[in-house]
Amino acid sequence: MSAAKNSEKNRVIIFDTTLRDGEQCPGASMNIHEKLEVARQLARLNVDVIEAGFPIASPGDFEAVKAVAEQVKGPYIAGLARCINKDIERCAEAVAPAGKKAYIHTFLATSAIHRQFKLKKAKHEIVKQAVASVKHARTFCDRVQFSPEDASRTEPEFLAEVCEAVIDAGATTVNIPDTVGYAVPIEFGRLIAYLVEHVKNIHRAIIHVHCHNDLGLAVANSLAAVRNGARGVECTINGLGERAGNCSLEEVVMGLKVRGDAFGRLWTSVKTRELYRTSRLVSQMSGMVVQRNKAIVGANAFAHEAGIHQDGILKERTTYEIMRPEEVGISGSDMVLGKHSGRHALFVHLGRMGFQVAEDQKESVYNQFKELCDKKKYIYDDDLIAIMRERISDIPQVYTLDYFHVATGTSTVPTATVRLKKGEEVFQDSACGDGPVDATLKTIDRITGTPGTLEDYSLQAVTRGEDAVGEVSVTVAFGKDMVSAKAASTDIVEASAKAYLNALNSHLFAQQTAKGPKKKAAGRRQGRQP
Ligand code: KIV
Ligand code: ZN
Repeated sequence: MSAAKNSEKNRVIIFDTTLRDGEQCPGASMNIHEKLEVARQLARLNVDVIEAGFPIASPGDFEAVKAVAEQVKGPYIAGLARCINKDIERCAEAVAPAGKKAYIHTFLATSAIHRQFKLKKAKHEIVKQAVASVKHARTFCDRVQFSPEDASRTEPEFLAEVCEAVIDAGATTVNIPDTVGYAVPIEFGRLIAYLVEHVKNIHRAIIHVHCHNDLGLAVANSLAAVRNGARGVECTINGLGERAGNCSLEEVVMGLKVRGDAFGRLWTSVKTRELYRTSRLVSQMSGMVVQRNKAIVGANAFAHEAGIHQDGILKERTTYEIMRPEEVGISGSDMVLGKHSGRHALFVHLGRMGFQVAEDQKESVYNQFKELCDKKKYIYDDDLIAIMRERISDIPQVYTLDYFHVATGTSTVPTATVRLKKGEEVFQDSACGDGPVDATLKTIDRITGTPGTLEDYSLQAVTRGEDAVGEVSVTVAFGKDMVSAKAASTDIVEASAKAYLNALNSHLFAQQTAKGPKKKAAGRRQGRQP
């Protein structure tokens, strides 16, 4: 590593907010087990800070942040809190198990539009509340970050005043959010340069930026910010997040790595070879599909279709490739296991992937693996993630698929016969539909008597080859309750039926726990807001 790269002042802190802001993405909420898997992988990726949730938002959020703080070692573990004492105290309690790595992130809007319409507060009241909250947070831990929400639309002079006041109050980081994704790179870069110049005590804190992608500029804005003095980027895996999402971690990290020359040799501690695996895991756990042409981690990111490109690559790789797929963890030969692999090999590999399989689960994980080996010649990491994903859902399986049969064809009315189990009881029925999947889901509705409306359906091949596992993602409306779920199988009708049943089970569980359809219990529900 060069001296320049080694230098601390050139280091850009990677603050991952996949589990907090990313999870605010409609339909992407994760249960505590899924969050823990993602957090463990983020630690392997070597991010500096994991923002694990918003503890006051719900008991589930609190437990998830606490579990991450207890179990995930390495990064700082942050929780979000409004500038309200009870939020800060709840957050402090959740992150406390992280010990010296506990981190409180508190925020308050500062822009004129938010002051006037949302908070109905004058500037001096905002400063007072922010200062009091930062002081309160500092009584619990050494790392306290303050975010002036909607900073990019705040008057720069007032923004500087707020930053100076919270740093004096003990904030170790001031985070400048482009909350509504309104900024453009040249202007956002200038704003950071302005703060570096005008906030007198700025040397006592680190500037982070937190950009949303409403204009598709989140990564560009974050890079402009680090070019102008910011030393922390808040980002999410796959750019997951509310509306158009947040700054994509993999893009900003690889942008700095590949174009170090353009960024004064800034560097991050991220182990880039873990990027692809992390992206796949987050996609699986959140149910959010990664678009094929997504930079860095999309299926097409390193695929050269055009003959002229292929010819060039064969002659000299750098003609058309600015980074190697291996650098981001895409090897092209990640085929790992097959029918001759034994138990030991399976669990060692799952362990390397970050999955801790409980002793009492090992037998059934191994059996499921063997069943898959009978259907598929090669087992890839993604196949294993699909197996594990089903296990880390904590939704009780009220209905399970026991058997199905579909008849379909060009001159046949698609008809399905489905048998479901509910505990010891077995139910069977048939129905016709517009296609084999429709017929299967209609039959499920007839059996369960809880009809859902399919709002969204997508099918993606998890791995390659003719025997690839197909992963179905559904969003189903049960009355006002919107639930997203996924399932995978080598048979797409089976994957569809299982995904639909996962959504139904999640809905039934939410009803049964009497928390109401709006309350997040275990499944993935839409439109969640802290
Ligand atoms: O986008 C935003 O402003 C936020 C803050 C809480 C940092 O997410
Ligand atoms: Zn945000």
